[in-house]
Amino acid sequence: MSLKACIYDLDGVITDTAKYHYESWKWVGDQLEYNLTEKQNQKLKGVGRKESLDKILKWSGARISEAEKQNLLHKKNQMYLTYIDTMTPEEVFEGFKEFNQKAKESGIKVAIGSSSRNAIRIIDKLDLVLDFHAIVDGGMTENSKPEPDIFLLAAEKLGCDPSECLVIEDSQAGLTAAKKGGIKSILFGTDKGLKGAQMQISSWLEADLEKFKKLF
Ligand code: BG6
Ligand code: MG
Repeated sequence: MSLKACIYDLDGVITDTAKYHYESWKWVGDQLEYNLTEKQNQKLKGVGRKESLDKILKWSGARISEAEKQNLLHKKNQMYLTYIDTMTPEEVFEGFKEFNQKAKESGIKVAIGSSSRNAIRIIDKLDLVLDFHAIVDGGMTENSKPEPDIFLLAAEKLGCDPSECLVIEDSQAGLTAAKKGGIKSILFGTDKGLKGAQMQISSWLEADLEKFKKLF
């Protein structure tokens, strides 16, 4: 078996949006009279929008109606988009474009597999729309990470078997999703204690395609 495709998560792997999510979720916390910490925000990495609100509601103990939930989700996203709309191509992590180009030149298919419903908007702001063979976002599948649907759809769009793909992820939800889908994964970033990846790299400058191929 050989490596045929890389499926990248977006948030935290290609660019840092966690800080924008945090500002917006903190505002939601304030509305619930709850102080959301940065550590808690870390636990929302890779988790879908609605599921993230459910977690915050659970932590805060607040009980609100379905209509209030929808209102908070809408307002959170409006706030998040005001941050996203200021993003520029300079916010792509160093070394990503070079790695991606090299992978494509060696015949590897590349896709985005993101839980975010804003993925295409972010990719557009980063000027990366033409850099992938496929983009799958949180609006395209019924289940979000930690279920494997997003990655399985990305593999299908690339015409590859999941066993020939490699997921690059920064979150536990994403690593679990890859594992459930029978896909090997690389943990991106410096977080410790996350489970399920075959290898960890702290930045794209460390990414070595030859080493990735040896995982297969
Ligand atoms: C993931 C992020 O990529 O997308 C999560 O890591 C976020 O923090 C999720 O909640 C959903 O994003 P959005 O843009 O649809 O609210
Ligand atoms: Mg992520």
